[in-house]
Amino acid sequence: LKILVLHGPNLNLLGVREPAHYGRETLDAINQRLSEQAQAAGFALEALQSNAEHVLIERVHQTLHDGTAFILINPAAFTHTSVALRDALAGVKVPFIEIHLSNVHAREPFRQHSYFSDLAVGVICGLGAHGYELALAHAVKQLAARN
Ligand code: DQA
Repeated sequence: LKILVLHGPNLNLLGVREPAHYGRETLDAINQRLSEQAQAAGFALEALQSNAEHVLIERVHQTLHDGTAFILINPAAFTHTSVALRDALAGVKVPFIEIHLSNVHAREPFRQHSYFSDLAVGVICGLGAHGYELALAHAVKQLAARN
């Protein structure tokens, strides 16, 4: 069973990008920690970051055939814009958790609507990179209960 972590646009800039909102840790460091956490729990984890909507959509489509059992996704700015990425997740029916590093509800009004939250198993925001670890812990628990 595989867990897929999807990171949306501009998250490749973590570490240098607006650290007051997003922290100083790089995406590689976050992914590395998640891989170790998944491995320790006996699950394979794959992470993908893309700035291109179609790349994320096509990766979601592949989950129909690649054994992905759970998705953790930070859609980044696509959170607030992408009906297409929402429809992809709805289409494959793989359970997912939506994660945001920053507390989007404490920011600009346009960040307070998400095209994903009503489909998500749950949403974590404002806890920085720790949000991914908490989401992964939940995914692992769900998948272990399923086996
Ligand atoms: C974000 C919040 C979004 O509003 C923003 O566009 C991002 C990152 C977060 O992780 O806090 O790129 O998803």
